[in-house]
Amino acid sequence: MNLFMHRMKFLLLTLLLVLASFSARASNDDAKAVALAKQSACLGCHAVDKKIVGPGFQAIAKKYTNDPSAQVFLKNKILKGGSGSWGLVPMPANTKLSDADLSLLTSWILRGAPSTN
Ligand code: HEC
Repeated sequence: MNLFMHRMKFLLLTLLLVLASFSARASNDDAKAVALAKQSACLGCHAVDKKIVGPGFQAIAKKYTNDPSAQVFLKNKILKGGSGSWGLVPMPANTKLSDADLSLLTSWILRGAPSTN
């Protein structure tokens, strides 16, 4: 095999490894977010693909596609609660969540709330 082919093979392999580690990290975050959403009772009012008391997480992801301020806006909204984005029914505040928890949950919701099972 010539040197060029050898290098290409090496590059491809490296690329695959990088991609694999990215997707492993994403699904790890998904698993953590699902657990946290259960623990924080979010799933009592929210489902992934339909409205319960609050809007479905996929509908939320869709509403904020291409909105660069969504991450900050939604973290604050989850923390403080409130109404107005989807109707008159308010979401209660979730003041026990840390900033890291809020980031984890918000990023997961904006990815369309993928589950890991
Ligand atoms: C008691 C029911 C209830 C619980 C519990 C609840 N929510 Fe909500 N959530 C709502 C309602 C109602 C809305 C719609 C608020 C509005 O119209 O602005 C909402 C809206 C949202 C939105 C979109 C906000 C917007 O302005 O577009 C996100 C994101 C969200 N909830 C995440 C969460 C997370 C994460 C948790 C758990 C920590 C949670 N919710 C717990 C009822 C709830």
